[in-house]
Amino acid sequence: LHPDPAGTLPGVPVVDITATGPGRTPMQQIMELMRAHGPVLVRRLHGRDVLFVADADLVADLADEERFAKHIGPALENVREFAADGLFTAYNDEPNWARAHDILMPAFALGSMRTYHPVMFKVARRLIDSWDRAARDGRAVDVADDMTRMTLDTIGLAGFDYDFGSFERSEPHPFVESMVRCLEWSMNRLARTPGQDYSAADTAFRADADHLAQVVDDVIASRAGTDQSGAEDLLGLMLSAPHPADGTTLDAANIRNQVITFLIAGHETTSGAMSFALYYLAKHPAVLRLVQRETDALWGDAADPEPAYDEVGRLTYTRQVLNEALRLWPTAAAFSRHALEDTLLGGRIPLQAGQAVTVVGPMLHRQPVWGDNPEHFDPERFTAEAEAARPVHAFKPFGTGERACIGRQFALHEATMLLALLVHRYRLHDHADYRLTVKETLTLKPEGFTLTLTPRTPAD
Ligand code: HEM
Repeated sequence: LHPDPAGTLPGVPVVDITATGPGRTPMQQIMELMRAHGPVLVRRLHGRDVLFVADADLVADLADEERFAKHIGPALENVREFAADGLFTAYNDEPNWARAHDILMPAFALGSMRTYHPVMFKVARRLIDSWDRAARDGRAVDVADDMTRMTLDTIGLAGFDYDFGSFERSEPHPFVESMVRCLEWSMNRLARTPGQDYSAADTAFRADADHLAQVVDDVIASRAGTDQSGAEDLLGLMLSAPHPADGTTLDAANIRNQVITFLIAGHETTSGAMSFALYYLAKHPAVLRLVQRETDALWGDAADPEPAYDEVGRLTYTRQVLNEALRLWPTAAAFSRHALEDTLLGGRIPLQAGQAVTVVGPMLHRQPVWGDNPEHFDPERFTAEAEAARPVHAFKPFGTGERACIGRQFALHEATMLLALLVHRYRLHDHADYRLTVKETLTLKPEGFTLTLTPRTPAD
């Protein structure tokens, strides 16, 4: 494989950022570079080149599974240091990818969401209890922190029957702190200057990675010795289900990697997506009214509605709001592909077999195909008619092809239900007149975004 594009490509600008480095917000730096140089560019850092694209036609071409496949680029190579051959970071031809994918797919089919629904609601109630207390005391809530508590508890309970109890802690669960530092290490390692000493950062990383592994061993141990046959959550399937075709099962090391992978992939991005959605709702009262109207139509003045599984599917406008938040800030902002053969990308950019290309989601989602005011937050972009009129590959928050997000329905069900419940229950006050700052830890989140809350009254 050639991880980097070889030399210059015809018509593609090369931007050398070695003098400044990528800083703490590399994704937003690439967005700026694309605003200046267009949606296809090579970024050079210490002589290492990465080809970034956001052009909608090129991304559509990259979705061709005959000619391109997922690429484990330098960022995911770093994540492999703690998630190894888990689903997210496995190489395409690593046997454990297909084995785990086939064993776990049934757990993510749309019908399985019905099984997770009660757990998702139970954790949503924990968040609501916590926000009720904050509302009563007039305290502001830190939105991203609380969304992270909620999504971690949800994947822990739904996937592994393990309770992180995040709402009983004033600080984030230590697993989250270690995970965030591991992700930051993976990101910052990309920006290293050759010749400098990073051994202190690497030692700290090892300690965090060990901590993750230890938590995961706890999660697994709490199930060991119990009969797993018939247990249909993720861990139950991993521990007992044979591969549907060849009857093999996952080995212990791989199970550990999958649990780490799901605990991270299963909560970090969903939490960011809900945080951005709440940010946009707080800033767009007319949109907020429409979501409220949708929830009121389902639940009226009920003080404590308990959504039925099917009701979540009827929250179509709430889902549009989430999609629109994911358009502007896809929380897993980039994914990479490589050419399977020598080919011309989009009929014009020559790529050698193995050569990698990274798709820049936030800029793809601001291309002309989105109209002439792509920065504007407008959930109408996601009506069924608007979606049908747009090229399918213009919206890619969940990646593409067979390596696309396995947890998409899980995330959307969880996030849609929670958003609707919150909007039905509270008036959201942007008490600090928040200005958006996007924090990057490989994933994206609004930083320092707080709200105050008051209960809605029937007149609201
Ligand atoms: C893969 C985004 C939620 C588990 C991916 C990829 C993206 C993505 C872009 C593809 C990465 C690549 O091509 O390199 C998101 C977003 C989410 C979300 C934006 C929330 C809004 C979830 C949840 C779970 C999950 C809730 C688990 C419960 C995974 C796994 C993979 C994956 C295991 C790897 C799949 C494979 O390669 O076989 N996700 N994800 N994700 N996601 Fe998600």
